[in-house]
Amino acid sequence: MSGLFDNIYSGKRVLITGHTGFKGSWLSIWLHELGANVIGYALEPPTIPSLFEICGLDKRITSITGDIRDIRTLRGVFKKYQPEIIFHMAAQSLVRYSYKAPVETYETNIMGTVNLLEACRHTPSVRVIVNITSDKCYENREWVWGYRENDPMGGYDPYSSSKGCAELVTNAYLTSFFNPDSYKGHSVSLASVRAGNVIGGGDWGEDRLIPDCIKALLENRQIIVRYPDAVRPWQHVLEPLFGYLLLAQHLYQDGPAFSGAWNFGPDDEDVKPVRWIVEYVTKMWGNNASWKLDTGKHPHEAHYLKLECSKAKSKLGWHPKWNLKVGLEKTIEWYKAYCNHQDMLNITINQIQSYEKGVSRMYSKRKVTQNELQIL
Ligand SMILES: NC(=O)c1ccc[n+]([C@@H]2O[C@H](COP(=O)([O-])OP(=O)(O)OC[C@H]3O[C@@H](n4cnc5c(N)ncnc54)[C@H](O)[C@@H]3O)[C@@H](O)[C@H]2O)c1
Repeated sequence: MSGLFDNIYSGKRVLITGHTGFKGSWLSIWLHELGANVIGYALEPPTIPSLFEICGLDKRITSITGDIRDIRTLRGVFKKYQPEIIFHMAAQSLVRYSYKAPVETYETNIMGTVNLLEACRHTPSVRVIVNITSDKCYENREWVWGYRENDPMGGYDPYSSSKGCAELVTNAYLTSFFNPDSYKGHSVSLASVRAGNVIGGGDWGEDRLIPDCIKALLENRQIIVRYPDAVRPWQHVLEPLFGYLLLAQHLYQDGPAFSGAWNFGPDDEDVKPVRWIVEYVTKMWGNNASWKLDTGKHPHEAHYLKLECSKAKSKLGWHPKWNLKVGLEKTIEWYKAYCNHQDMLNITINQIQSYEKGVSRMYSKRKVTQNELQIL
């Protein structure tokens, strides 16, 4: 469909864990459009409704219901399907829920990562592994500078620290089993990726800003906001997914030179307080939409978080394409289409195609370096 990514995904067996979730569903649709043979492994969709169910993804890809904590079933799936490229997204992905269920969070996010890497280690077909962690994996110092890939891991709450631990696990597997220095012996390239707060159509996650806004707007309620001054790196879901696909392409084509950790965050001007997002959303929605402050007591959440992305920009030629305003417009456009009972698979694919066109235009306009030429 697109000519992006050097067409490497066409005909490849790509396994996505967490394919029933928000990001996993978008990635499954994109990879399916790129001609990949997509195999998904996850629990049932975490929300009702869900992008997975609305787009009928169980009919488009091989969808397996399984628990990432169940290593035996997971290894059976790897043995049966012999995947070549892996995107690991299955996770307990919510900060607030992690305070209620720390054991589930640690088991899923840490042992789930160990199980996934073990399954990869015992499957000879595997060439590329991209482990999706989070911008929250860093030790948050509440400072204005963006975190770099080599900053220390940390995490105040169980979710954030579980993602920091998942990073440490990934690094141990990289040095112990998938070491770039002994690539000829194992032929596996392993990377971890840290993206910002992702927005986009089809998210109904609990205690997430955009889903909270949309649920309130659809019910004609006032939006209730917990931390209006919390500052986050916001980006449309297609932004980091483009980065993951580009990175996996390089890991596949160039081997271990691209192994290790990568940040994929928005440009500085899109690191904004929650208040700004809510005001923009209410303005776009119209219909006298408004918001109010939630004055209740809530568990700690980081106040300031930003990613430094020079590595992805200079080594992969990755650059944000849709700024936050465009990302929010696409998000609201998606939910309005959903309210009007449109064909949401079509709408989702149209948004992916529009993003791809924008990317191609951006790269042909800029002075294209040798490295960047590989994705055109
Ligand atoms: N959405 C964001 O803003 C954001 C930001 C940074 C990082 N991330 C990370 O990206 C990944 C995807 O996020 P998302 O927003 O799509 O999350 P999501 O909650 O929508 O989806 C999570 C997926 O993991 C699956 N899952 C959960 N527990 C499982 C288990 N025990 N076994 C198998 N599958 C299980 C769910 O079924 C679902 O498919 C996660 O690792 C998340 O931590 C998300």
